[in-house]
Amino acid sequence: MLQSTQIALSKRLLAHLDAKTTDTVDAIAHNPVDAFTCTDRLEREWKQLFLGMPQYVGLSCLIREPGDFLTNDDLGVPILVTRDVDGRARAYLNVCRHRGARLAEGCGKAGRGFTCPYHGWTYDTHGHLIGIPDRRNFTGVEQALYGLTELPLEERHGMLWVAPRPEISADPSPNLEGLDEEFMSFGFADYHHHDTRVGHWKMNWKIAIDTFLEPYHFPILHKNTVGPIFFPNLCVVDGFGQNLREIFPRRGIVEMHDQAETEWDLVKHSAVVYQLFPNIVVVVQIDHYEIWRIYPVEGKPDECKVYLEFYIPEPATSEKAVEHWRRNLDLVLRTVETEDFPAGEGIQSGMRSGAQDHIVYGMNEPALHHFEKTAARAVGATL
Ligand code: FES
Repeated sequence: MLQSTQIALSKRLLAHLDAKTTDTVDAIAHNPVDAFTCTDRLEREWKQLFLGMPQYVGLSCLIREPGDFLTNDDLGVPILVTRDVDGRARAYLNVCRHRGARLAEGCGKAGRGFTCPYHGWTYDTHGHLIGIPDRRNFTGVEQALYGLTELPLEERHGMLWVAPRPEISADPSPNLEGLDEEFMSFGFADYHHHDTRVGHWKMNWKIAIDTFLEPYHFPILHKNTVGPIFFPNLCVVDGFGQNLREIFPRRGIVEMHDQAETEWDLVKHSAVVYQLFPNIVVVVQIDHYEIWRIYPVEGKPDECKVYLEFYIPEPATSEKAVEHWRRNLDLVLRTVETEDFPAGEGIQSGMRSGAQDHIVYGMNEPALHHFEKTAARAVGATL
């Protein structure tokens, strides 16, 4: 993040701290519970926000070398992402052109290409079909016409963006609107993947995202985890088109009062959270990055699937480093998986109870207003 941006944001935080205020919007908002329970709404979201837009699928470092690959099955089609022998990242449908078996599972290293586990047809990293066992019995199969089906992919700022359908552009400009400079500064491509955790939760995908978008709950829900680390109910929020950035100051930010502005290090004294519409939450921590991917489950408005990707600056090779990252990850998981998400599941079941036809966003929850309004507008709904 540019030093000038850090200074401007820090000044806003310090002013709030002195005045005991936070960023606000002008009025509360009501969101109908239907936004989280309605199957039709989910279907519109699925088609427009997930199948109709480029999707972040991981950092470039996940496929650092030619032949490295990852798969994604959360966007309605099986996707295989790899780096070709020339170093270019590519995406294909993970479907063998013989009888349609999956070519690869999970993630790993494929070397110079992929061999179908069913009958052994082989493809190079450019997706060309290069081998058919017992070739003489496939007379008429022109190899050049039986390559893998390619999906558009763009690699930007160390992030991989894939279009889930061939006719959609993978250009992530709307996904990163106004944030290119900041994301370029993070150096994602040089980071290392440490761990990925996956969970299925009984709540709407937007409720899972909402939990990252306000610190009003920190001193209550997180009193035994991260609550004591951060100032409660204090944030600065900025919208960038569909996306937003929210800063949660750590208590140590008061040190800045005694430092020259040129020495201010906002990342050291805060958690910087980006919500990249629709379903990505990037958390910039002091010494690592957490990237959350949250997907709806098709046809089920009260379920979602959540991935936490944990990236660190150097591979953890010493015992000390392993222990350091174990403790970091443990705190994240205890906070989110034993506090935030169970609360979200409670909200979802409450929505089914008929207790209320809407929920309320306070003026002190501006990021919630921004995200939920953007999500509603994108499918022709309103708050
Ligand atoms: S389905 Fe792939 S080789 Fe037969």
